[in-house]
Amino acid sequence: MRLVILDSSDKVAEWAAKYVLKRINDFNPGPDKYFVLGLPTGGTPLGMYKKLIEFHKKGLISFKYVKTFNMDEYVGLPRDHPESYHYYMWNNLFKHIDIDPQNVHILNGNAKNLEVECELFEENIKKSGGVELFVGGIGPDGHIAFNEPGSSLVSRTRVKTLAQDTLEANARFFDNDVSKVPKQALTVGVGTVMDAREVMVLITGAHKSFALYKAIEEGVNHMWTVSAFQQHPRTIMICDEDATLELRVKTVKYFKALYAVHKKLIVGEGSQQNEP
Ligand code: GLP
Repeated sequence: MRLVILDSSDKVAEWAAKYVLKRINDFNPGPDKYFVLGLPTGGTPLGMYKKLIEFHKKGLISFKYVKTFNMDEYVGLPRDHPESYHYYMWNNLFKHIDIDPQNVHILNGNAKNLEVECELFEENIKKSGGVELFVGGIGPDGHIAFNEPGSSLVSRTRVKTLAQDTLEANARFFDNDVSKVPKQALTVGVGTVMDAREVMVLITGAHKSFALYKAIEEGVNHMWTVSAFQQHPRTIMICDEDATLELRVKTVKYFKALYAVHKKLIVGEGSQQNEP
């Protein structure tokens, strides 16, 4: 597992966006070869999306041959509700880039049959050739997507009832009123994300530091579902200084010493353009 420790959440956003840019451009997608990208919502990835839009406007990246699959969506929230993940994705990314709307996949939390909706989503991922890079965020309780503590680590896309911690963490988007947060969501499973060829998790803020400690320094545990990615051959976690508060000094020193190695992951051969 790689852990990239950066000074601030802004640096995390920039680093993550540069990584996505490089991965897509190196893949060289085309009409017969789409890049399949898994995407999260939440406050953490907002800066990365802003940067990707900026790179797109500068002509550094095109999403024409990119297919996206989002991690999750609330059940029963109208698609045009400002807190729906549909609304979030269109406003914070898709409407600003050249992606074909047909290539965007977001679970429909208002589908008549939610189980069928989840099965189709899994089938669509398979039909697209699998996810090349799944970008994720985590909750303070270490959940990835909406895989709450206790979720099976081989779970697939399904309906999930949200934990109290998650309802409270997300109340800030619903007038700070926990009762307004939808109680259920559709979410990809831990197994769905594990199937991706690479997983990148963004973790910022002191309130996520215990979860990062559980993810990195303790064993795989279904009560901290992000810890499952210790067993993924290509996991990269990007965090800020605040999120390292619960890590051992030895761990932080080790990963910080790898900065020169990590820097190479976002700098193109002979190109200064991507220099962090
Ligand atoms: C929600 C989402 C997760 C997201 C998490 C963290 O629970 N389902 O996918 O990672 O929130 O959000 P934030 O980045 O706002 O802390």
